[in-house]
Amino acid sequence: MLLRILKMIDKQELNTNIPAHVAIIMDGNGRWAKQKGFFRAVGHENGTKAVKEAVEGAAEIGVKFLTLYAFSTENWNRPKLEVDTLMKLLVNSLRKEIDTLQKNNIKLNAIGNLDALPNKARKELLEVIEKTKDNTHMTLSLALSYGSREELIKTIQEISNKVKNNVLSPHLINEAVINKHLYTKNLPDVDLLIRTSGEQRISNFLLWQIAYAELYFTEILWPDFKRTNLFEAILDYQKRERRFGKTSEQLS
Ligand code: FPP
Repeated sequence: MLLRILKMIDKQELNTNIPAHVAIIMDGNGRWAKQKGFFRAVGHENGTKAVKEAVEGAAEIGVKFLTLYAFSTENWNRPKLEVDTLMKLLVNSLRKEIDTLQKNNIKLNAIGNLDALPNKARKELLEVIEKTKDNTHMTLSLALSYGSREELIKTIQEISNKVKNNVLSPHLINEAVINKHLYTKNLPDVDLLIRTSGEQRISNFLLWQIAYAELYFTEILWPDFKRTNLFEAILDYQKRERRFGKTSEQLS
């Protein structure tokens, strides 16, 4: 099956017009596990294999920025056992995959309220971020304890403080100033947002940054996601006309 899909995808088309920034809402681990009669944790565990597929696939075709929604601010409300499992998987994956990151020249980054993470997870994360900081081929950002509204509140608070302390004048607040205060300050806007599992919503992910992103929804449950599915999403993206508010005629 995989070989058949690979044959169907013309790799030539993946040589140009690659979105610089791809973001993924990895959804469906729980349903995948339930369908197979497993505990949800097994779904998350298999979700880590799909993370590897997506990361290696993105690096292979020259995506410069890949951002994965790994744990939302709302996910803290899940049963403690599930939260603990996800944090353990994070630590294990970071330990296991540091070599993959180095081999592929991938820089690790994290967005979100990292102070909320358990010490062990935060320490491991910061260590891998430090070790990969000089890598240049692709930036992999993990959204951890991330919520777009929380990010915007933090941004508004920081900017308000600057105004209050006369460091910034209100009329100088523009998109660039806001971008500089977001967790994504070092990332460009998202070009392509993918969500798996058939759900068609944004779930508090990168609300500001997806203003002009192309959206791609697939029925595939995250643990089944392979690099060919990423390539299919990118081929679909390449068929879109991104007008950014202009007319087709203006673009041509
Ligand atoms: C959504 O599926 C997935 C998550 C909340 C967590 C994503 C985590 C991983 C892919 C594994 C660990 C990640 C890293 C980066 C090592 P869901 O549980 O909401 O599925 P459901 O909607 O079917 O219940």
